[in-house]
This record gives sequence, structure tokens and C-alpha cells, in this order.
Amino acid sequence: MKGIILAGGKGTRLRPLTYTGAKQLVPVANKPVLFYAIEDLVDAGITEIGIVVPADFPMGREQIMSAVGDGSRWGASVTYIEQDAPRGLAHAVGICEPFVGTDKFVVFLGDNFIREGIADQARTFRDGTMNTILLLHKVPNPQGLGVAVVEHGRVVELQEKPAVPKSDLAIVGIYFLDYHFFEAARGLKPSARGELEITDALSRLIETGKDVRPEMITGYWIDTGKHIDMLDANRLVLDTVETRIDGEVDSTSQVTGRVIIEYGASVVRSVIRGPAIIGADAIITDTFIGPFTAIGDGCRITSSEISHSIVLDHARIEHIEERIEDSLIGRHAELRRASSKPRGHKFLLGDYSSLELQ
Ligand code: TTP
Repeated sequence: MKGIILAGGKGTRLRPLTYTGAKQLVPVANKPVLFYAIEDLVDAGITEIGIVVPADFPMGREQIMSAVGDGSRWGASVTYIEQDAPRGLAHAVGICEPFVGTDKFVVFLGDNFIREGIADQARTFRDGTMNTILLLHKVPNPQGLGVAVVEHGRVVELQEKPAVPKSDLAIVGIYFLDYHFFEAARGLKPSARGELEITDALSRLIETGKDVRPEMITGYWIDTGKHIDMLDANRLVLDTVETRIDGEVDSTSQVTGRVIIEYGASVVRSVIRGPAIIGADAIITDTFIGPFTAIGDGCRITSSEISHSIVLDHARIEHIEERIEDSLIGRHAELRRASSKPRGHKFLLGDYSSLELQ
């Protein structure tokens, strides 16, 4: 069985981060979200992995290729498949046909995140005779999602973002498929939003009598496509870390709860209340880092308070005494209190940035 990870896309919901980087590399607990997908595949015994990368976004493509490399770090072998433009999930999977051949395969949306891994479902699919397994997750409000209707142990109908959902079972962004998918995807027409929709291809499988089975997942499932979901994923992963202090903590600092402090980081006259992670070479001075916060490598945080946030590598935050919360701060971003008068707010925000003052 082969694995495919979709790491192209437009990433409009995560702008402005996606202007300068691939959204699949935004870190959850200081590890790119894409790496969790690779680990889930490898843990399920799937080591031949194709990663779809965006040809029309060379910066994102190069970042992914250099972060993942040839996959040998995970004991995997990675092949990159370029998608000319983000033409939809069915298109992205369709272009993988030469890589997949007639093998069974599993598709992972590169920004989706589940707690329990996919080893059990991979075993069931490998040993079974079904054509497809869809992972489903019970949700309170399925309106904005793909929804599956299940009868007698089979998936019998799919709805995409239904106004009136026929079930509360959302379709998770991980699909076990066989070569029939490629037949179903051929000849699809773009949807109203101009994309070849995976739900349409999967619906064709059902309509043509293929055996499409449901598998429920009970642990969390997060689509990290939006900033608030990214913070949720960060919170859930940080909640499971074990304390490891490899950096320096001075005697006037307090570190409580489960906290990782990486090599080269230093914490001076500060309070770190876990769960939290401080990246390599970060310098935290006279600062409060509250629960569910991930500080990236090389950040400088001075005389500030921050909790429930993700701060990417090399950001600087200085003298911001009001607590920074629920924030996603990009690489090399700078936030500091001005010392000169007049003291009004001064902003240099990229397109589609978002700032909330209270
Ligand atoms: P989405 O998050 O559904 O789409 P998107 O990346 O275009 O984001 P947004 O809605 O914010 O504009 O994509 C799910 C995953 O699939 C994500 O990792 C990107 C990837 N993808 C492709 O590889 N090719 C595509 O054509 C599309 C639409 C998505």
C-alpha cells in the first residue's frame, strides 16, 4: 500500500502565513503539521509516500522538499508530485496515478491531524476486499463539512457542506482508496468554486456500486486550515508532552507543569507554566509564558506575557505587557512597545494580516 499526502492548495484561510510559506509546515508543538501525517503513515507500515507539492508556488514547494527531503529520516521513501495549480483534491489525487499504479493507497490531507493514527484502518484495508474506507467523525455541526450517510455498514451517500445534513458523520481528510478512484475522478467537472471535488469522485464510487466502508474515529480530528484550529492542535499535542529541559533556566525563573526547553534556549527571570515548548536558541527574559504556548527556535521574548499561542521561529516580542493570547505569530515578526512619543500604535502589517486590540 502506498501513501499520498496533499501539500499543495491555496491556503487562503491561513493568510498571510501562506504568502511566504507552505501551510503544511506551520508547526504544531514546534513540529510541522505535515510531519505528523508522515509519522502516521510510517507507523501504519506505509513507507512509499508521494507528496503533492504546488508547482505554482515555488517557495512553498522548495520549503516542503527541503524540510522532508527523501524521507529517510522516517525510514520512508518520498516521491514529489507537482500539481500545476490548486485544481481541487480530486485533481491532486488524480495526478498521482502513475505513482500509485494499481496498488491500494491512502490519501492524507497535509493539514489534517488525528490523534489515534491510522494503523488499525490500514490493516483492515490491506487485508480486506472493500474498495474504499472513509474515516468518519461524529460532529455537532456538520453543515460546513463533507457528510456521510451510513446504512448497514456501508457508506451509501455523501453530502458536501449540506444546508440540511442527513447525518452527523463528518468525512475526515484521510481516505483509503484503490485504482477505481482514478476512473471515478476522470471526467469530473469543476464545481461552483472551480475545483475538482473529492466528494464528487467518492460519490461516483458509491453510485457505480463500489464497496465503500465507514470507519469511525473517536479521538480528536482537526483540519488545521484556519488559525484557531492550528491553536487547538497545538493545545492537544502540548497536553501530551513529557518534561525535558535541555536548555538553561536561571535560578530566578520558575518552570512548572510539562515543559520542553530545547538545547541552546535560555530562560532568565521568567515564569514558564506548561504545557509549553521553547525552541532551540530562544531567549526568554523577564517574561511569562502561559499554558499551551509553543515558542519557535531563535525567538527573543522580553518583558512580555503570552499564552495559548504559536510563535514561529525567530520572532521577537519585546515589552508587550498586555497578555498576548490565541495568537499565531509568523517567522521573524516583531512586536515591541515604542519608547518614543507619541505612543500611538504603529503597524506594518502584511496583506490579509489580522490584529485585534482590546
Ligand atoms: P484545503 O485546505 O481544502 O484547501 P486549500 O489549501 O486551498 O485552503 P483554503 O481553503 O484555505 O484556501 O486543502 C486540503 C489539503 O489539500 C491541504 O494540505 C492542501 C491540499 N491541496 C492540494 O494539494 N491541492 C489542491 O488542489 C487543493 C485544493 C488542496
